[in-house]
Amino acid sequence: MLSAKSLFQEILDNDESYRLFCSIAASGESQGGWENTRIAALVPASERELAPKITRHGADEDKHGRIFNALMKKRGLEAVPVPPETDYTMLLEKHGIGLAHEKLKSDEPLTVQDIVTYLAHSRVTEQRASEQMDLLRKHFADHPDLGRAVRMISHDEDDHLAYCHEELLRFAAAGHGRAIQRTLRESALAEIRIYRDVSLAVMSHMGRILGWPRTKSAVLAAGIHAVYAYERVAGWRRMVSLTMPERRNALGGPATSAPEFA
Ligand SMILES: [Fe+2]
Ligand SMILES: [Fe+2]
Repeated sequence: MLSAKSLFQEILDNDESYRLFCSIAASGESQGGWENTRIAALVPASERELAPKITRHGADEDKHGRIFNALMKKRGLEAVPVPPETDYTMLLEKHGIGLAHEKLKSDEPLTVQDIVTYLAHSRVTEQRASEQMDLLRKHFADHPDLGRAVRMISHDEDDHLAYCHEELLRFAAAGHGRAIQRTLRESALAEIRIYRDVSLAVMSHMGRILGWPRTKSAVLAAGIHAVYAYERVAGWRRMVSLTMPERRNALGGPATSAPEFA
């Protein structure tokens, strides 16, 4: 039977697919870390209070990147180059979602509007991260190698999502509501497409590595298209709502470390 669990299990059991999985994850996390670190450095003076939280956000993503690299190392594996068509973060940036890397590389301070854009983009992508890690936690929370890493990252991603909700509600109350709604909608509709394309690309690489029969690959591709069809019709709305999280000020403290990994 094809299930999310059996699929992940198969990917984890093979060194080649495991290292591709970890390499893609590590690279996405590190890119997220870099983006957040740059945004924190360029926060406009009027939003200075937000800077430590953005720094913390970046530190968490960097830590996740180190954890995925450490998981590979633990099995004696080296990272492999990430195929561009599987590079979720880079593809989002290329499609103009979030803040352009050109802008982040410069030394010009960002505007309040840029900060709102960053938060709206993060609200969408952190939802995806939170759901994906939740799925992994559901199936592998007790896995001897992955369990602790998965539980820690999943907890962090939930915090990131809570932080985005809270800060966006604050900006909405300050008069940015329309810009937030527009950016959320644009980001969500672009994200679901890119997520579909990246999922298809990752599955095609995994299928080649693991020698999947054509029917299995076809069933998986059909599943990915079905998820997209659902998200396009209705599912995207879950990515654009804003509700005050139970956990306030989720990124208020310093980053927790993961000394056993990195
Ligand atoms: Fe992360
Ligand atoms: Fe995150």
